[in-house]
Amino acid sequence: MEISTTASTTPVDDARLAEILANPGFGQHFTDHMFTVEWTPDAGWHAARIEPYGPLTLDPATSVLHYAQEIFEGMKAYRHEDGSIWSFRPEENAGRMVRSSHRLALPVLEVPDFIQAVDELVKIDQRWVPDAAGEKSLYLRPFMFGSEAFLGVRPSQHVTFMVIASPAGAYFKGGIKPVSLWLTEEYTRAGRGGMGAAKTGGNYASSLVAQQEATAHGCDQVVFLDGQEGRYVEELGGMNMYFVYDDGHIVTPATGTILEGITRSSIIELAGKLGHQVEERKFSIDEWRDGVTSGRITEIFACGTAAVVTPVGSLKWAGGEVPGASEGGEVTTQVRQALVDIQYGRAEDTFGWMHRIV
Ligand SMILES: Cc1ncc(COP(=O)(O)O)c(C=O)c1O
Repeated sequence: MEISTTASTTPVDDARLAEILANPGFGQHFTDHMFTVEWTPDAGWHAARIEPYGPLTLDPATSVLHYAQEIFEGMKAYRHEDGSIWSFRPEENAGRMVRSSHRLALPVLEVPDFIQAVDELVKIDQRWVPDAAGEKSLYLRPFMFGSEAFLGVRPSQHVTFMVIASPAGAYFKGGIKPVSLWLTEEYTRAGRGGMGAAKTGGNYASSLVAQQEATAHGCDQVVFLDGQEGRYVEELGGMNMYFVYDDGHIVTPATGTILEGITRSSIIELAGKLGHQVEERKFSIDEWRDGVTSGRITEIFACGTAAVVTPVGSLKWAGGEVPGASEGGEVTTQVRQALVDIQYGRAEDTFGWMHRIV
């Protein structure tokens, strides 16, 4: 892909950047540039460019605003001790975006083009990648949307793919603390044949009211069950789940309607190497309640790019509650540390997961 570059003439000055990187928060500050490439049926992908970050001008009839034909990815660039900058398994994010594009009737952006787009943006905005200290990183948001101006339910004939980037601080400011969960029995995030396995904005729009329900019940996050039987654990609004048993084996739900996280699949391999037997299977809410009550389930954790690995505390639902740990257990801590050490270059990358950008 040939990419033209127009450098920003008003980049954020060094003093302000240092201030932002000292306390970046999440998704609040954006780098000096953005990547864009457009697609039409006749020209294919064309006009790839990096330009100063700024607002888009959209026709009010732009199809994504009406029919939500949109997909996205979430990944990070990490700075290692020696100053080099790396991404984690970018081909997995690119591959997942290809699968999402099939489900949303969007054109395929080939894996090498996706990786090149991300790499080139990180290169031009490399001063925005925070130091390794304190688990900071540069969060990367590739996304694709129907950008044709028309009203009518059909795939957009003009599509835009973009990448933006935002420095991110440590997810847990006051140390790693378990999240409490609300089990929603009213709302589901995915149904058979639906979009659960795709990373598309609509899934998140539909999760918001359930998250509001969780907050109203004093819980941090919502957990969804399958849409058909309302019996099997799927995932949280933005994280996959793991259950650790007293004999050391680990279970992660697999239902065909979850968003299969790259952190999730990495943990399957990593935990195996650490000596745990890992099962991917349907996991019912009764197994959860019974396992915690009997003590057979010793740890529960959630995982995703943003928080890496988060211990799970109590589970509450309309009819009751099962308590949870007040801190991360041994396996949770071990898996988390092993993963973070690879991402920040502190442990040998025996899986070949890291991709050097700078
Ligand atoms: C619904 C959902 N499940 C799981 C995940 C975890 O995926 P990953 O590990 O690729 O970040 C995410 C985060 O992107 C998500 O939004």
